Amino acid sequence: MFARRAGWDLGPDDLAETVARRRRAGLPVVDLTDSNPTRCGFRTAAARLATVLADVARDPRCAVYEPDPRGDRAAREAVAAHHAGQGGAVCAESVVLTAGTSEGYAHLFRMLTDPGDRVLVPTPSYPLFTLLAGLEGVEAVPYPLRLRGGHWRIDLEALEATAVPPVRAVLLVHPNNPTGSLVSSRETEALRRLCRDRGLALVSDEVFASHRRPSAPADAPHTLLPAEGAAADGPLTFVLSGASKLLGLPQLKVGWIIAGGPAQLRDEALARLEVIADTYLSVSVPAQLALPALLASQVELGREIATRVDDNRERVERAVAHAQNVRLLDAEGGWCAILRVLAGARGTAPDEDALARALRDDSGVLVQPGWLFDLEPHDEDGAPVAHLVLSMLPEPSVVEAGLGRVLEAITASSR
Ligand SMILES: Cc1ncc(COP(=O)(O)O)c(C=O)c1O
Repeated sequence: MFARRAGWDLGPDDLAETVARRRRAGLPVVDLTDSNPTRCGFRTAAARLATVLADVARDPRCAVYEPDPRGDRAAREAVAAHHAGQGGAVCAESVVLTAGTSEGYAHLFRMLTDPGDRVLVPTPSYPLFTLLAGLEGVEAVPYPLRLRGGHWRIDLEALEATAVPPVRAVLLVHPNNPTGSLVSSRETEALRRLCRDRGLALVSDEVFASHRRPSAPADAPHTLLPAEGAAADGPLTFVLSGASKLLGLPQLKVGWIIAGGPAQLRDEALARLEVIADTYLSVSVPAQLALPALLASQVELGREIATRVDDNRERVERAVAHAQNVRLLDAEGGWCAILRVLAGARGTAPDEDALARALRDDSGVLVQPGWLFDLEPHDEDGAPVAHLVLSMLPEPSVVEAGLGRVLEAITASSR
């Protein structure tokens, strides 16, 4: 009855059931996996959204439906103005609005690939790639990021070896989730050359790009969208972003695709994206009308998130400084912290799943095991390690409450 692409194992969800059971029993749940800003107490974003939507409700344009397939022009101009500040060549004509970044991926796969084609995705990275690609009949093939001297770097040799037909596009996340690593200027050059020479599209997910940490290399580009003079001899390039991470407003359900690259190819791509967007017209009029005023508050909303993430990271740094066999991996941006658990006296690292399950069942603390993001169970020298990924978005009291338990559980598992 069902398509192979929908052949998922839909058995009971152990995690959801355990959490629901704990909540029913009145037991605490400390969620260190939460990266949903609407659950993490960001009051400025909620207040700003309420004000802007009240204005939108009174706007006469809200009462009519005359959709522009690429999105309302004022909204696209606001998006272009935001990204122009990052250094890429962008104007309203090169922007297409979507109902979130995930839909942006779907539109790009529909335009760039046929069933059975492949796209290259970084690993470790965002676990949803496989699903997003699979739903469009496309295979997501990993290319490795390797931790060298404390920085995650693209294994360019491995990438080049994989970038052969039927590969149609190279995806990257800048900064990456969960490693927080930025693509360096050298990597950017290499990626642009590879994609141009092999006729591949370059897709840069920049949902976390508005904030970088002090450890970020100064020469890492702010965007992979080519600057004015560099577009003509580069590859067809797409940048994805959206309100979900940039403004901390996932409930607005607005994202966008920005196209760049050689003018003729870019314009052909935009004309095709317009047909795809016109087929769904998925972004609501109120959301489009709200976008310019919300983007005007981006600096303020972004700062609230960045401050939270940085403060929580410092909390983790302080706590881990006293722990024997735990390291906090460096991050150049993003919302995650990766704890690396080193091997104990017996020479083995704890089992990530067992650790996460013990935390959940014994104290209601939720963390993500590293394998979920394809973090490998060994370090650069091959020694066994385990990884736990923590969201740095929850309120400080939640992080404080969970962190001690996490370190206790790690200590117990290493005995
Ligand atoms: C790297 C990355 N890209 C895209 C998304 C999805 O964004 P949106 O909510 O706009 O669909 C996420 C969500 O966590 C993400 O981590």
